[in-house]
Amino acid sequence: MKEKIGILGSGEVAQSLARGFKTKGYDVRIGTRNPDKLASFSREAGVPAGTFPAVAGHGELVVLAVKGTAAASVLEMAGPAVSGKVVIDTTNPIADAPPDQGILRYFTEPNRSLMETLQEKHPTARFVKAWNSVGNALMVDPKLSSHDVLLRQRRRREGDRRAHPGGVRLAS
Ligand SMILES: NC(=O)c1ccc[n+]([C@@H]2O[C@H](COP(=O)([O-])OP(=O)(O)OC[C@H]3O[C@@H](n4cnc5c(N)ncnc54)[C@H](OP(=O)(O)O)[C@@H]3O)[C@@H](O)[C@H]2O)c1
Repeated sequence: MKEKIGILGSGEVAQSLARGFKTKGYDVRIGTRNPDKLASFSREAGVPAGTFPAVAGHGELVVLAVKGTAAASVLEMAGPAVSGKVVIDTTNPIADAPPDQGILRYFTEPNRSLMETLQEKHPTARFVKAWNSVGNALMVDPKLSSHDVLLRQRRRREGDRRAHPGGVRLAS
């Protein structure tokens, strides 16, 4: 029997992963507050849509792919349907406030992650962080040449230097 996956979310990440799981042969559903808006995606991708609690209930494994600020409330809507399940958490705690000089703002404290908070609220679920630091276009079967990988590493280092001016410089 196919493993059942419930993806909570309707955005780019949820849709990319839903297509990916479907292509790999899983029995996947995608969740949202408003399943009607996913009608054309569902038809085209062959992935049924449902409400957050219904889709969490479908999944033997749950993927959380919603806006970070909504993660806690979406899991609350899913309720007991996530108990005892592995929840793969793709979210980032990006605040609604605009970036400060190009640097994203987070709503979490420096020594506290969003996933720790979610794990505390749902102690019987088993949270695992994945896919949160890669663009959705590279989440499933990414095609990268070694040149792309080196370029991305270099850009990341340069980004880090811009993000921490006068601060720590990463070793090359
Ligand atoms: N985009 C990327 O390439 C990328 C890469 C890595 C990680 N991430 C992270 O992955 C997560 C999903 O990103 P995304 O770009 O696919 O989508 P997104 O626009 O960040 O989130 C869309 C989802 O959030 C839900 N949502 C928004 N506000 C809500 C509210 N007030 N209450 C309940 N649900 C709410 C929406 O629910 P409805 O379906 O009901 O509208 C929708 O399912 C984010 O945490 C993001 O930081 C994104």
